[in-house]
Amino acid sequence: MNPVPVRERAPLFVQLHQDDHAGVRAELASGLQADIAFTHPKYLYDVLGSRLFEAITELPEYYPTRTEASIFASHAPAMAALIPQGMTLVDLGAGNCEKAARLFDVLRPARYVAVDISVTFLQDALQCLQRQHPLMDMVGVGMDFSAGLTLPPAAGDGQRLLFYPGSSIGNFTPAEALVFLRQAREAAPGGGLLIGVDLVKPVSVLEPAYDDALGVTAAFNRNMLLHINRLLGSDFDVSQWQHRALYNAGEARIEMHLDAVQDVTVRWPGAQRDFKQGESIHTENSCKYTPAQFEHLLREAGFSRIAQWRDPQDWFAVFLARG
Ligand code: AVJ
Repeated sequence: MNPVPVRERAPLFVQLHQDDHAGVRAELASGLQADIAFTHPKYLYDVLGSRLFEAITELPEYYPTRTEASIFASHAPAMAALIPQGMTLVDLGAGNCEKAARLFDVLRPARYVAVDISVTFLQDALQCLQRQHPLMDMVGVGMDFSAGLTLPPAAGDGQRLLFYPGSSIGNFTPAEALVFLRQAREAAPGGGLLIGVDLVKPVSVLEPAYDDALGVTAAFNRNMLLHINRLLGSDFDVSQWQHRALYNAGEARIEMHLDAVQDVTVRWPGAQRDFKQGESIHTENSCKYTPAQFEHLLREAGFSRIAQWRDPQDWFAVFLARG
């Protein structure tokens, strides 16, 4: 007997905004010209930067990824009990889609919407996932959701569970995080937000996580200069810059900087910047929260039903927040 034919599903892909090269160059130039030079952490992620970040997640010192994974491994069924099946799972910053895929069997979403800055990052991963889950609707969306969380019609109109793992929220200041959380609540009416948050902890644990013995995080930070050279046409010499990570206790955040090891002049089409020896470029903030602080932020953003799970050391938390 012939097998019953089932509808062949294939992932749908949409790219919302195309890179605005002039805008990127203007943003980079104005940050580099500021009194204290800074760059947006999104420029850490070119192809090599994304691979270096994946390597960071394997380092003994970098606890967030494996700690969050252990929380999901222990508590995903308890989370699923609070989430209706058949939802649209919207993965914000999906990348290789691995973290969300591990939740499919327990959350049983009807549709999976993977969102990342570039839809090309999602193509291989989604195609592969679709073969493993032939009945699930899968959509890849290329958009910069840091600029706003308005999802395209292709994301469907089902009840949404937004998934924002990895403590990516830490790249926002608390004020920016509040704006983002409000947008998340509005983007998932009747649904929810499942979010991973890195917690305040001793400096002796925090600093090595961002300044590992192998120097992978240093390479990740310094590689940003190579990426900027391509985007801006600048002439950064990576050997003139040193990685520095520190915990700023007053702001409850890890800061990454690149320090000039000598006097440096950086040139790019239309402008240049002189850096004195020891002068630096601030490349990333990674904000940490106490469980109470983050719960308060969720309430301020308008969420009222909030559950949380933590690892035994209280290093990381996963929150499920619903309207
Ligand atoms: C991807 C923003 C969560 O802040 O821990 C890792 C990035 N920077 N090591 C973090 C990062 C240096 C990471 N996030």
